[in-house]
Amino acid sequence: MKRVSFVTALGLTATIFLGAATAHETDNPAVTARMAIMQLYANNLGQLGAMAKGNVEYSADAATAAANNLGLLVQLDQSTLWPAGTDTDSISNTRALPEIWQNFPDVMAKGKALSEAVTAMQAAAGTDLASLQGAMGALGGACGACHKAYRAPE
Ligand code: HEC
Repeated sequence: MKRVSFVTALGLTATIFLGAATAHETDNPAVTARMAIMQLYANNLGQLGAMAKGNVEYSADAATAAANNLGLLVQLDQSTLWPAGTDTDSISNTRALPEIWQNFPDVMAKGKALSEAVTAMQAAAGTDLASLQGAMGALGGACGACHKAYRAPE
């Protein structure tokens, strides 16, 4: 009899753990990964922005490093990070609007615009502060254009 109740207890424990796993099912690894890329964009853009605004002293080396990081980040293949069914209508922990999946060519165009602005920044960042400042608008604008169209407000 003791053995039976032990098995029953194990069964209950398993049920509790399975319940916990179900509760975390919305933590989609693709969504987490695409957000992480965006955070890396923001971190490097933020370093350039701080120099552009004069909040941090201009350093050609630091500016070049941040611009080159962006250059690497825009080369990441994100094709598996935006699976269907991960928009704001389908899951709760995302700000990716369903319009993304209806306008893929335009989303790609906005990604390409970001790549071009990053290339321009890579050429400008290490030259001098004025060059960095001159490349900043197009770069920030490329982020903002996509967010305006395809990211839900917080
Ligand atoms: C082609 C479209 C596109 C471009 C270009 C783009 N983003 Fe995003 N970004 C998005 C979308 C869509 C989301 C929402 C993702 C989600 O919640 O699943 C997002 C989310 C974010 C977030 C929030 C991440 C989080 O943890 O929730 C930050 C920060 C961000 N972007 C920064 C940037 C920066 C900085 C740039 C430019 C260097 C940039 N993004 C360029 C589409 C874009």
